[in-house]
Amino acid sequence: MIEDGFGDIIGKARAGMGMTLKQLAHVTQLAVERVRLLEECEDDPTQEECRRLALALHLHPGALEQIARRDYLPYVLQNADIRVYSCQVSAMRANAYLCVEQAKMAALLVDPGGDVSTLLQLVEKNDLTLAGVLITHGHADHTAGAAVVANRFRLPVLAHPQEYVTERSAALNGTGSYHVGPISVRALHCPGHTQHGYAFMVGDALFTGDTLFAGSMGRTRSVTAYSRLLESGRRLLALSPLIRIYPGHGPVTTVEQERMNNPFLAEYYSQI
Ligand SMILES: [Fe+2]
Repeated sequence: MIEDGFGDIIGKARAGMGMTLKQLAHVTQLAVERVRLLEECEDDPTQEECRRLALALHLHPGALEQIARRDYLPYVLQNADIRVYSCQVSAMRANAYLCVEQAKMAALLVDPGGDVSTLLQLVEKNDLTLAGVLITHGHADHTAGAAVVANRFRLPVLAHPQEYVTERSAALNGTGSYHVGPISVRALHCPGHTQHGYAFMVGDALFTGDTLFAGSMGRTRSVTAYSRLLESGRRLLALSPLIRIYPGHGPVTTVEQERMNNPFLAEYYSQI
């Protein structure tokens, strides 16, 4: 199941555009109570309601309707060179990942936001070298287990210093390439969900944290942050279509599928 339903998506877009429920009801000519009900996921929208809300919130109508029908589930093939394993951590069900570069028998932990012992068991069982920890952003559901693992295995932690700091931090600055042990990582600055969020690319695997989910995006706290998040999302979807996206919450997807199906971003791609 994807991370966000219809109500979550319209709620995020409305907040991001700085609209009140009443304003959205006015623009769409729906009753305030009806909009509230839909936003709280207590009823499904009709096709017409979905269309009006999509237009008012600058979301892609077709992509939004597909989510309202619960019809979107991305399909992704594993890759033999870069293998990615995941486990869910914290009450927020965040995804922690183990990204393995098979040829080098080396691995990175991405967003160990809690107990990642199942991923560490894979490291041991497959005789991999754990080379470092990558932190997409500073929220606890993505970082809570990082210091323990980094100290235990003496690993560098790649994170923006304003997002997360440990004794073992290797500071990120802007967009660029980094070597974490034998593994090359491209770090892409993605402000929006947080001020200095990052996405990390290892081979053709892209770890997006809460910048981009299958069919949705992370929450923002202001109108400016929302427009930054949309920009970050567009930059990520400008990458090669076959890149596999491993988000901070929800299932794995690809750049190509998000260009077509993500209600926040498909509008932009349908226009170019
Ligand atoms: Fe977050």
